[in-house]
Amino acid sequence: MSFEEIFDDSYKRALNTERDGNDFFESFYDHFLSGQKEIAKRFVNTDMVVQQSMLKKSFYSLFAFYASGQTDDSIRKIAEKHNRNNLDIRPEFYDRWLECLITIVSQYDDEFSEDVELAWRLVMTPGITYMKFKYDKDS
Ligand code: HEM
Repeated sequence: MSFEEIFDDSYKRALNTERDGNDFFESFYDHFLSGQKEIAKRFVNTDMVVQQSMLKKSFYSLFAFYASGQTDDSIRKIAEKHNRNNLDIRPEFYDRWLECLITIVSQYDDEFSEDVELAWRLVMTPGITYMKFKYDKDS
C-alpha cells in the first residue's frame, strides 16, 4: 500500500471515531490550545466550530500539494493568511501543530502504527514547509 492510501484509510477511520463525545477536529484543537498560552491566545476570539471546518477543508489542500507537488490558490491563500503580515504564525508553531496532530491521530485511529504515523508526517510536511517558507515572503 502506498503512503497516500495509508493516510487516506487512517483519515477515514479517524473521522468516523468519537472519544468522550468529541470528534477528531474538536480534540485536535483542545489539545493544540491546551499546551502553550501563546498559541491559545491567538484563538480567543475564534469561533472554534468554524475553525474546525476550515481546517478540515484545508486538509485537502495539504493533501493535494503532497500528491501533485504544485501549489494551488487554496494553499497559497492559507499561507498568505498565516504569514508575518497577517496572522503572524511563527514557523516553530507548525512543529507543535504537527506533533499535536499525530497525538490525536494515535487516539482516533484504532489501527495506528509506525507506517500510519509516517504517512501522516509525509502528507502534512510539504504543506507545512511551504507555509513556513512563506512566513516572511511576499512582504
Ligand atoms: C499546516 C498547518 C495549518 C493549516 C492547514 C491551517 C489552516 C487554517 C485555515 C484554513 C484557517 C482559516 C483561514 C481563513 O479564515 O481564511 C486558519 C486560521 C487560523 N489559523 Fe491556521 N492553519 C495551520 C496552522 C496554524 C498554526 C500552527 C497556528 C498557530 C497558532 C494557526 C493559527 C491560526 C489562527 C489564529 C487562525 C485565525 C482564526 C480566526 O479566524 O480567528 N494555524 N488556519
